[in-house]
Amino acid sequence: MTGSNVSFVLGTRPEIIKLAPVIQECHRRGVDTHVIHTGQHYSDSLDAVFFRQLGLSPPDANLEVGSDDHGAQTGAMLAGIEEELHDIEPAVVFVQGDTNSTLAGALVGSKVDVDVAHVEAGLRSFDDDMPEETNRVIIDHISDHLFPPTEETAALLRNEGIPEDRITVTGNTVVDAVQTYDDRAASESRILSELGLTEGQFDLLTAHRVETVDDRDAFERILSGVSRASAQADQEVIYPIHPRAEDRLEEFGIAVPARIRLVEPLGFFDFLRLESTADVVFTDSGGVQEETSILGTPCVTLRYGTERPETAFVGANCVAGREPSAIVAAATQMRGKAGDWKTPFGDGTAAVQIVDTIPELPAREAVTPTE
Ligand code: UD1
Ligand code: UDP
Repeated sequence: MTGSNVSFVLGTRPEIIKLAPVIQECHRRGVDTHVIHTGQHYSDSLDAVFFRQLGLSPPDANLEVGSDDHGAQTGAMLAGIEEELHDIEPAVVFVQGDTNSTLAGALVGSKVDVDVAHVEAGLRSFDDDMPEETNRVIIDHISDHLFPPTEETAALLRNEGIPEDRITVTGNTVVDAVQTYDDRAASESRILSELGLTEGQFDLLTAHRVETVDDRDAFERILSGVSRASAQADQEVIYPIHPRAEDRLEEFGIAVPARIRLVEPLGFFDFLRLESTADVVFTDSGGVQEETSILGTPCVTLRYGTERPETAFVGANCVAGREPSAIVAAATQMRGKAGDWKTPFGDGTAAVQIVDTIPELPAREAVTPTE
């Protein structure tokens, strides 16, 4: 027995940003939404700031699971989400991406027999050491509606035997989000003056993945590589530091090179402003690889592979690995690129297409042409 409303399970910064367009599209069609926040992210700078900036109401439920080992964290989510879905009886539960919160939402949905819709399906790094890779594969195989962003990711799903009638290529909702908020970021953000920066005269760094920052050697190598690469162009590097990375810097006693300036994690508008005005962006983030390809900023990925190879195919991204000399070479290759490639992640209508695909949800209202 299902109702006419829909649930969203989310828990981390990128899920809030990339599900916001789908939540908002549901509201435009008069659909009741019920947002279940797992509490995986809870610091204001990784969580509430995005609800405020993206104009979302606070979550309907917050399970407050917090940080823990993967099993304990995911287990706590499962119990809480199950209780919520039993109460709500939604027509469909939306999850996004590849985090532990995404996995928990999909797993409970499939157990309690609610249709699971996976936004950003089909991504594969083929690196089983990444906790996210395990999550991606499981989530895709238990989802009823899969929304890969590109034809390449759809092909990966077909190769794994996922039935064609579950797959709809929509582009990535991150394009919808960037298109909606980029102008506001440009007009409202004061981050350049707050940090004393000039457009085009700084580099930007984000690094937070387990395989980058939880390994002392790897973390030191990428900091050294980025510092050397930016020194060649005489650029300062701004690094809004994720709490996981900050914890590891302290634990390992790593001395951050002087060229790299640490700042607090930023809200979406400030971060978009820096991403679109940086000379080069260095990152191990999935979302940042996508956004730089949309904004026309050259990106160097500090990993040995990527589940977003489309960004490299269009010339927006160079996957450098973690060796300092390779990072320097990649930055030399990318710096100064015109940024005129076409983003591979669609035209900003992903959320509309996603909601169109769910049979239980109302169709788009016919647009009345104006005189
Ligand atoms: C998680 C996701 C990762 C995603 C990232 C987005 C998994 C397995 N990982 O990684 O895929 O790219 O979110 O940012 O789901 N912490 C805080 N405040 C918070 C949250 C965390 O200080 O609000 C600190 C805690 O010390 C915690 C650490 O950050 O131990 C890591 O948090 P966790 O949620 O385990 O994973 P992320 O590294 O954030
Ligand atoms: N982001 C942000 N402030 C920051 C760093 C990142 O708003 O200081 C946004 C960024 O614009 C992107 C998302 O966070 O939309 C990426 O999240 P993250 O790198 O944490 O996770 P991933 O995409 O790797 O899963």
